[in-house]
Amino acid sequence: MANFKVTVVGAGFVGATAAQRIVEKDLADVVLIDIVEGLPQGKALDMMESAPVEGFSSKIIGTNSYQDVAGSDVIVITAGLARKPGMSRDGLLFKNAEIVGGIVTECAQYAPNAIMVMVTNPLDVMTWLAQKKSEFPVERVIGMAGELDSSRYAYFISEKLGCKPSDVKATVLGGHGDQMVPVPELTKVSGKPITKLLIGATIEAINQRTRDGGAEIVKLLKTGSAYYAPSSSAVKMVRAILQDTGEVIPACVYLKGQYGLSDVYCGVPAALGRQGVKKILEIPVSDGERKALHASAADVRVNFAKLKI
Ligand code: NAI
Ligand code: 2OP
Repeated sequence: MANFKVTVVGAGFVGATAAQRIVEKDLADVVLIDIVEGLPQGKALDMMESAPVEGFSSKIIGTNSYQDVAGSDVIVITAGLARKPGMSRDGLLFKNAEIVGGIVTECAQYAPNAIMVMVTNPLDVMTWLAQKKSEFPVERVIGMAGELDSSRYAYFISEKLGCKPSDVKATVLGGHGDQMVPVPELTKVSGKPITKLLIGATIEAINQRTRDGGAEIVKLLKTGSAYYAPSSSAVKMVRAILQDTGEVIPACVYLKGQYGLSDVYCGVPAALGRQGVKKILEIPVSDGERKALHASAADVRVNFAKLKI
């Protein structure tokens, strides 16, 4: 069987690191695209020159041409501006909508059967925009954020409890913004809810740190935003899709009545596989969390409406 093919659009921090993780794990051959001439070509060549040392056999090419997208199984879109200190994700809205709109139209033309994984911020609005511009079925356009937010939540809990990060299974719902919804009752350490391990004030402080997780990194880096954890999360989604694992991953998906929400993209747990979203899971949430999820979705709706599509 031929190798899978993944296109990563945007050869910046998130895109290049995602591409590196994909080839190093031998998940697929990669096409890395950027608008800047030489940038994707240089990064791809540099990665290929690491193949003898790292021992991977997947191939990566860099290009500025969308013709190279043809035949892609998955397209990961990371192109656009990243946050600067003090800038909200929504501040990126209009500029990134212009960039993403153009890219999606090109990609849909050359790879009409691909699954799109959106990364560019503001994430939920860009994912919705990508679905509209591509005219792909909603199941084939998915946004990456919930896995990143849940991973940050899990890490902060493990740091507090002194346990292995991978022992924590965390759940964060909602849009990738200030109104995201960490769910402590469904966040467990080796099967035990954190509500039984940490006091309420500590949990609330960790919840807030999770909501501010992206901004915390931006503040430290001073230029640019996080990319190691974001690329890990995007590649986890790519693997589930390519290998049709059906793994349940918190992701930005189009809701059709689940959680009482319709006609909006928002973050909830979803089983991912070759057709994109296989199933959306409705996990039990408290009335407060449901209200917070609705507020987060309303925020996505308001920002999407600003694009007047
Ligand atoms: P970056 O600035 O390092 O890379 C962006 C790349 O996009 C640059 O190489 C740029 O040349 C390229 N680009 C710009 N316009 C383009 C076009 N029209 N066609 C092709 N390429 C184009 O930024 P970084 O750190 O990689 O972040 C990328 C995006 O991902 C940002 O919007 C950022 O906010 C978002 N992000 C989202 C996360 C999430 O959880 N969903 C997490 C981390 C970042
Ligand atoms: C993050 O959460 C910037 O959205 C990006 O790191």
